[in-house]
Amino acid sequence: MKCVDDFRLKFGKKELVPIIVGGMGVDISTAALALEAARLGGVGHISDAMVNDVSDRHFDTDFVKDKSRLYKHNINNPDKADIHFDLGHLAEATRLHVGNTMQAKRGDGEIWVNCMEKLTMNAPRETLRVRLASALDAGADGITLSAGLHLSSFGLIEGHPRFRDAKLGIIVSSMRVLQIFLRKNHRLNRLPDYIVVEGPLAGGHLGFGMDWAKYDLATIMAEITLFLKAEQLDIPLISAGGIFTGTDAVAFLENGAAGVQVATRFTVSNECGLPAKAKQEYFKASEEDIVVNTISPTGYPMRMLKNTPAIGSGLRPNCEAYGYLLDGKGRCSYINAYNREVQAHPNEKSISVMDKTCLCTHMRNYTCWTCGQTTYRLKDTTRRLEDGSYQTLTAEHVFHDYQFSLDQKIALPG
Ligand SMILES: Cc1cc2nc3c(=O)[nH]c(=O)nc-3n(C[C@H](O)[C@H](O)[C@H](O)COP(=O)(O)O)c2cc1C
Repeated sequence: MKCVDDFRLKFGKKELVPIIVGGMGVDISTAALALEAARLGGVGHISDAMVNDVSDRHFDTDFVKDKSRLYKHNINNPDKADIHFDLGHLAEATRLHVGNTMQAKRGDGEIWVNCMEKLTMNAPRETLRVRLASALDAGADGITLSAGLHLSSFGLIEGHPRFRDAKLGIIVSSMRVLQIFLRKNHRLNRLPDYIVVEGPLAGGHLGFGMDWAKYDLATIMAEITLFLKAEQLDIPLISAGGIFTGTDAVAFLENGAAGVQVATRFTVSNECGLPAKAKQEYFKASEEDIVVNTISPTGYPMRMLKNTPAIGSGLRPNCEAYGYLLDGKGRCSYINAYNREVQAHPNEKSISVMDKTCLCTHMRNYTCWTCGQTTYRLKDTTRRLEDGSYQTLTAEHVFHDYQFSLDQKIALPG
């Protein structure tokens, strides 16, 4: 019987423990969590989502305050077209977040940056170029392109000195999307270094419609494996979504995956950025408490706990401070939903918006409890304390449990 440690994720001569902790924005996959994964010989992700805010929190910058002040006059204007990110601030925030994490790295593993295309920041190309280039400038070992097709992302950084050295990967949920990406980037003569194949049980946004339950990761992996073989492309595939035990991981590794990307089990680790109260909500959840809905303004379905404060919340849009989902023309579907409810209930002090949510504010405040489908099993990974709460785990414990466990066993904390 094999365990994950019998396998290695290989890039040339470099060998890694084939466990990748997935990116979880906004600062849910903290630098501390990513650094543990790297120290233990695997890969950890940090995310550049809302990086100005993350920088303010960790490095005492004032990027959010400065932007809010600049656009204060626009707060009651539903048209957000004039709101723009200062590209210099964005570059500086990215360099601080990524650079400090890279400097703190110990051990043989790597740190990759999760970069979501759907954070269009009211200037999709310009901001994406700055985010990607600044992450490379700051020394990121790799960048994982996610939440979008990323058809022009490679092109945006083709002139960067690290374009061919840093690892660049992409998350896909279907063979079709991968084919489009490869075709579009053919002229650059630069293949992705790895492909994360994310199935429908993952946390965060899903690369599926509301019919996600019809799909399964093993089938998509098999299709993509065959396609790459037929094209004679040797690109490591990393399976993601619903891999809860070391044994689950081994099943994918034995079928040709080069690694697994996991996240949900780390949401209840001490190093995870979620507040303690939210971690307890994840532990307590039962299967019926986990829903996939369309409240994210990105247009992608998102999985979350049913009791998440973001559902039904009617906050005033806060694009003057944040605005990460503005589409380039000053629009976000939450603004429309919010204004519709305000007009329908002119005399009410607080309103509820059911169909969309102010994702920036809620992700920033950790009040959108996005989670993977296996969250309801987290309670089986720990002990209950005397006060009835669940014991959070060290990231090292969870990582080692994936790495060494056999026979579907889950090691409880000591
Ligand atoms: C709380 C949470 C937040 C996530 N946020 C992101 C994100 O910001 N960007 C992204 O590409 N994937 C995100 N994901 C997906 C994970 O990176 C990962 O691929 C997936 O959840 C793995 O499946 P598992 O959670 O079943 O282990 C998130 C997952 C969770 C659980």
